[in-house]
Amino acid sequence: MWLFGYGSLVWRPAFPYANKQPARLDGWKRRFYQASPDHRGTPDAPGRVVTLLPEPSEQCWGMAYRVPEKGRGQILDDLDFREKAGYERHQLPLHLADEHGTLTGEVVEGLVYVANRDNPNFIGSCSMEEMAQHIYRSVGPSGANIEYLVELSKALASMGVHDPHVVDLMSALQPLLDN
Ligand code: BEZ
Repeated sequence: MWLFGYGSLVWRPAFPYANKQPARLDGWKRRFYQASPDHRGTPDAPGRVVTLLPEPSEQCWGMAYRVPEKGRGQILDDLDFREKAGYERHQLPLHLADEHGTLTGEVVEGLVYVANRDNPNFIGSCSMEEMAQHIYRSVGPSGANIEYLVELSKALASMGVHDPHVVDLMSALQPLLDN
């Protein structure tokens, strides 16, 4: 089984895996449109984390993890619990790449957690400045929302991935960090 990480799982996979490879998911875009009442915020002051939106012309790069059969049930139970605030499981084709980000030609079915527009924690779009301020002020049991964005941005950069949404959001956050 392959599992696709496109948020915190890119830089902090919280489960044992057999191997990992960068992967591209076609037809979806990553957006910080999902409220986080339980990880990067609280029920009274939810943070903002990523989900995926269907968009035929777009692609989302992330990290694919091959999960060994042994312990798989527990890993999925833990992820289902962890992502209980609106995410659903999808099976989607992943285009695997090597460590340089070059596609290998191998396409596998991967498990992807997606929070769709109908879930109660979907908060959608606003200006980049508002989004950055929201992230700047939010903290939850898993830590500061800033860490989530900064670590994701660093992990994508180290993979050679340019995601304009994440780059723009980092640019909007930088003046707040510099203050
Ligand atoms: C992730 O890739 O970190 C992730 C994003 C949304 C739900 C589950 C995992």
